[in-house]
Amino acid sequence: MRLSPSLLSADFGNLLAEARQVELLADSFHMDVMDGHFVDNLTFGPPVVNALRGGLSKPFDIHLMIERPCRYAPRFVLRPGDTITFHVEAADDPRETIAAIRGLGAGVGLSLRPATPIEAISPFFDAVDRVLVMSVEPGFGGQGFQAEALDRIRTLREAIGSRGVTICVDGGINAGNVADVVRAGAQVIVAGSAIFGAVDRRAAMRALLEAGE
Ligand code: DX5
Ligand code: ZN
Repeated sequence: MRLSPSLLSADFGNLLAEARQVELLADSFHMDVMDGHFVDNLTFGPPVVNALRGGLSKPFDIHLMIERPCRYAPRFVLRPGDTITFHVEAADDPRETIAAIRGLGAGVGLSLRPATPIEAISPFFDAVDRVLVMSVEPGFGGQGFQAEALDRIRTLREAIGSRGVTICVDGGINAGNVADVVRAGAQVIVAGSAIFGAVDRRAAMRALLEAGE
């Protein structure tokens, strides 16, 4: 499994220092961009993400929980290996959004809320690099893992078949449930509160990595 710490649960007053603390064991950084419309929360956008970019070397996985993703995606400074993930519920024309993000040189991810049927994203498996399965309702960190996500991951694994689409899972993952998530078929694990809620973040990451092996 690959581990992607979500900075949503980090101390926003010390974002760069917080991110650096976990960079060694991180495969990428998960950046939760929220607009107060698509979800009932506001976090940070391109100015903050771009300011962090210069201070960190691991790839950025930018998770857009915003309406009109096409409008804001070009405002991120991207490096090879970065991905931008948007929600199928937020895009009028997902295929056009996928093409627009790809045109920026980023990897493309497609996400869906827990209640959205898998069929909403399956037509795009040929066009995206990853899918991001939400195992909580998007908007806030620190929520409990919705166990129904395990069946959805298994269904996705089956539906994706031999296509090279990476399955990422986001929300409520901790050392107690990560093994189930990986066994169901997840390749990238996003974790916020399980890492940044711990006093020793690196120990928390090692616990996740060991449990998920
Ligand atoms: C929720 C976000 C998640 C969340 C993960 O809307 O997309 O990335 O911050 O945090 P935990 O691991 O605390 O659920
Ligand atoms: Zn996220």
